[in-house]
Amino acid sequence: MATTTLARTPPPGADAVAPPTRVWDLAVRLFHWSLVASFAVAWISAEEWQDLHLWAGYAAAALVAFRLVWGLAGTRYARFRQFVRRPRVVVAYLREFLSGREARYLGHNPAGGAMILALLLALAGLCLTGWLYTTDAYWGVEWVEETHELLANLLLALVGLHVLGVLLASLRHRENLVRAMVTGRKRPAGPDDLA
Ligand code: HEM
Ligand code: HEM
Repeated sequence: MATTTLARTPPPGADAVAPPTRVWDLAVRLFHWSLVASFAVAWISAEEWQDLHLWAGYAAAALVAFRLVWGLAGTRYARFRQFVRRPRVVVAYLREFLSGREARYLGHNPAGGAMILALLLALAGLCLTGWLYTTDAYWGVEWVEETHELLANLLLALVGLHVLGVLLASLRHRENLVRAMVTGRKRPAGPDDLA
């Protein structure tokens, strides 16, 4: 009897080996890495390969449109309702982050959620101005071209911050968030984590 009880008692540190839990669905993961690829191709082709630039840009636009729908109708951690928080919550999270007291989130943390909104909005504006520039009515119009260029540079800065945030959060919570965006799986939420 005593042996059975002992055998059922989880060994110390058992939650460290608990099986990973599914967080990002396949659609989110395919969306993310396809967006990274189309963004990179659009950047590289911007000056010299006009056709390729337009194709990559349209692909990015289609991905953003899909993500907006998936943010309303997707699985739990894909939904905007799950990760878009009030500015006050984002600021409080950043303060806690700076003092090393921030909680671990199973989905996007509040700052990550704000960054995702900023990335999607900037991408939408970038694709819209790019498309406008190809129309008869707006071709050659300076503000359209300038806004397109400005948004492209803004996005580069945002992506830099985004990747920095991902790396810092990975280090802080000792988990590889880039791998999680590939496999979809993360360490399950512990007692102090927010799921
Ligand atoms: C190689 C560079 C990149 C890496 C390593 C990377 C990594 C990641 C990771 C790990 C997440 C999940 C963050 C979390 O755990 O909360 C994420 C989310 C996201 N990233 Fe990136 N990212 C990269 C480039 C980009 C680029 C270039 C864009 C857009 C132009 C982008 C847009 C997004 C978006 C929109 C999300 C939210 C995913 C969703 O919920 O649909 N990322 N990224
Ligand atoms: C991820 C999306 C995109 C990125 C990163 C991007 C980036 C850029 C950059 C950096 C330039 C060079 C700006 C300059 O030096 O003048 C450019 C030019 C241009 N882009 Fe995009 N773009 C994107 C999407 C689009 C889309 C969707 C379209 C149209 C459907 C488009 C159409 C154009 C056109 C026509 C130009 C040439 C403007 C000129 O003649 O200088 N772009 N883009």
